[in-house]
Amino acid sequence: MKLLLLTAAVLLLVVGEGAAERVLSRRTKRELASPLHVGGIRDPFGSYCQRRGGCCPGRDDLCTVPYLDTICYCDLFCNRTVSDCCPDFWGHCLGVQPPFIGTCERNGNKFFTGQTYKENCNLCTCGTTGRWECEQNACLMEPDIIQAVNRGNYGWRAANYSQFYGMSLDEGIRFRLGTQRPSRTIMNMNEIQMNMDPQSDRLPLYFNSAEKWPGKIHEPLDQGNCAASWAFSTAAVASDRISIQSMGHMTPQLSPQNLISCDTRNQGGCAGGRIDGAWWYLRRRGVVTEECYPYRPPQQTPAEVGRCMMQSRSIGRGKRQATQRCPNTHNYQNDIYQSTPPYRLSSNDKEIMKEIMDNGPVQAIMEVHEDFFVYKNGIYKHTDASFTKPPQYRNHGTHSVRITGWGEERNFDGTSKKYWIAANSWGKNWGENGYFRIARGENECEIETFVIGAWGRITMEDMHNHHHHHRRRHI
Ligand SMILES: *[C@@H]1O[C@H](CO)[C@@H](O)[C@H](O)[C@H]1NC(C)=O
Ligand SMILES: *[C@@H]1O[C@H](CO)[C@@H](O)[C@H](O)[C@H]1NC(C)=O
Repeated sequence: MKLLLLTAAVLLLVVGEGAAERVLSRRTKRELASPLHVGGIRDPFGSYCQRRGGCCPGRDDLCTVPYLDTICYCDLFCNRTVSDCCPDFWGHCLGVQPPFIGTCERNGNKFFTGQTYKENCNLCTCGTTGRWECEQNACLMEPDIIQAVNRGNYGWRAANYSQFYGMSLDEGIRFRLGTQRPSRTIMNMNEIQMNMDPQSDRLPLYFNSAEKWPGKIHEPLDQGNCAASWAFSTAAVASDRISIQSMGHMTPQLSPQNLISCDTRNQGGCAGGRIDGAWWYLRRRGVVTEECYPYRPPQQTPAEVGRCMMQSRSIGRGKRQATQRCPNTHNYQNDIYQSTPPYRLSSNDKEIMKEIMDNGPVQAIMEVHEDFFVYKNGIYKHTDASFTKPPQYRNHGTHSVRITGWGEERNFDGTSKKYWIAANSWGKNWGENGYFRIARGENECEIETFVIGAWGRITMEDMHNHHHHHRRRHI
């Protein structure tokens, strides 16, 4: 060790003649050299600063005294645990005990006090005691919870998603959901009366919209870190309904971005919004397709709402026309699509099923709990997998999704597990190809509490025009 210090001292003498250069070289040395006390070089009985005659305020690279074969510092910059300070600096200059400079270990490497690394969603700092001190946030991907779900007999399996890894549970709830609970007035909206005839309204054990209406049910999109499920679920249900109702003459995938950027009245864009507001906008203003107005997930600022780049004007009889070209300049189809007023279904699963089978997918509000983010496949039910952990590991937020079908699975004991098939908006690599199944008939996560249907606004003229467009494009 002495040899090493000697080398350092020789280097100091050799490098640079001018004062400026000397300061620079000292400064460099000071930042790169390991602290003198690491490895036991400290001389506990020296009175270096005292002999020097004082302690310098701030950082002063000339505030040094010879120390063993090198120099040590007596400036206030030493009031950190990184330095090559004189051993009596703390006692003489500050009147305190010298700190212990810790080294922490990780993967066989040494780290000094103050250095950090990220462990999943938590920042870990090397503490003065030589131990890593980590934040204690609940993460979105908790290995313990994934394991507990997969070991338990919950009827569904969990996975570790790389796109969620490193986020905290609070961030997941803040950025991946984004539907506000409807107001009391909206929640009190009348349910439509459905007179079901038990004979003629026989419902099959399994039903999937994608099989009844091939090519008309749109694939799940990915909202990214933008809390706009209000716009995604509304646009998805409206897209499917227009495609079904027009018998495939139009199969638009409506633009969530159009809603996020333009339906801004009492809406929060990527910071959450209301589905009743989204339906109002679809009815009164209308939106273009996803190809025309593509989705741009926010990169740095999740709450940012892009400028609205599409407006419509009335052309009579309640119809509207775009006043701008598509934001995507390669697309010329800026047709505006509108809906009729939405209607609320009862919470009875049979009525919801009949509605889906007759008219297509519906929109539902649901409460998303911590374990839903790790869902991989099976029939989801909220579990107690996080109940052995502190309370911050349990949290939930409101989301909205699109229910497209149902089914049941037989258990070994002859009973059956009934489920809904629903599309989420977390991309196709989440869940069962972007879809999930969830327990049906027991209001799991409140999924049967507030269910909405709507019609597309389609006239015979639309059918003809779109058909015409379609043909002309292919000539
Ligand atoms: C030394 O550092 C500690 C912790 O950062 C601070 O609380 C204290 O005020 C500092 N002392 C002086 C004299 O600057
Ligand atoms: C989960 O995924 C992340 C990133 O893809 C990876 O770094 C981590 O080790 C994985 N955790 C487990 C428990 O598999």
